Parts: sequence; C-alpha cells; structure tokens
Amino acid sequence: MDCAQSCHQEPCHEHEVVIAPKGLSRRGLLAGFAGVVAAIGLGGFGESALAASKTYTACKTTDVRVGGAKIVTLPGTSTRVVITQPKKGVFKAFSPICTHEGAPLNGISGTSLVCNSHGARFNTTTGAATAGPTRKALKAYKVTISKTSVRVTI
Ligand code: FES
Repeated sequence: MDCAQSCHQEPCHEHEVVIAPKGLSRRGLLAGFAGVVAAIGLGGFGESALAASKTYTACKTTDVRVGGAKIVTLPGTSTRVVITQPKKGVFKAFSPICTHEGAPLNGISGTSLVCNSHGARFNTTTGAATAGPTRKALKAYKVTISKTSVRVTI
C-alpha cells in the first residue's frame, strides 16, 4: 500500500501512521509506555537482583546452649539476629526486634524470647508471638549448619 500522504511510496516511514489520542505526539506515546512499564514493576528487575540474599557465619554451634539463645551481629554488617537452640542440634534465627513497638528483645524464659517493654513473648522454635500485645511473629531467617558453624541467610 502506498503512502496516503504526499509521497505515495512504499514503505514510507516518514508518514507512517501512529495511532494516538488527539493531541498526544509519538514521543508522548513512548513516554507513556515507559511510565506503564515502570508502574507494573518491570523496572524492578535490577532492584530484586540487588536484594539477593546472603549467608553469614553467625557463631559456633557451641556458642548457644541447648534451650538457650544468643544475640549476634552478622560479620561485616550491622544486622543483629538472635540464634536459638530449642533442641540439641536444632538452631533457629530470628530478628531480635520485638514486633510490637520495635524494642530489642531482653532475654529468654523457658521456651520464650522475652520483650520486657510490654511483656511480649515469642516461641524460640517458631518465633510466633505467644503472649503480650502483639500477635505478629518475629522475622525468621534460614539457618544452616556447616561443621561447627551456624550460618544464617538474610
Ligand atoms: S515493644 Fe515489645 S512488647 Fe511492646
């Protein structure tokens, strides 16, 4: 089909038809498409790659007694985690920040991590809130054991 505009050549890119709402230029259409791509999150691929998880050696298995807990700072970071060993050889890792109002956890009582601010308690195996003003569990992290090292992925 020949160009319906003044040149009558085939194919004609100079006079190609761009379907656009009245008053919207081709440049405006492309800018709009870029906005849609950003809005649906396609621009976030790079961000998710940056947010990839990383594994750290948190402590030695002997640093946490059976039924106990220890708060450690992951090497090379300012991230603190609480490591528990609710049963022999079973290690868990959680955020040491109370899910009520963000106070640091204070200690362990039986099978509970305790926040003294308002009395919240969290299960040392699951991190679930078991008492106090919050029902939200502690953030849990993946734990792996490598020989005698407790490794935490955040
Ligand atoms: S901040 Fe921990 S119970 Fe309120």
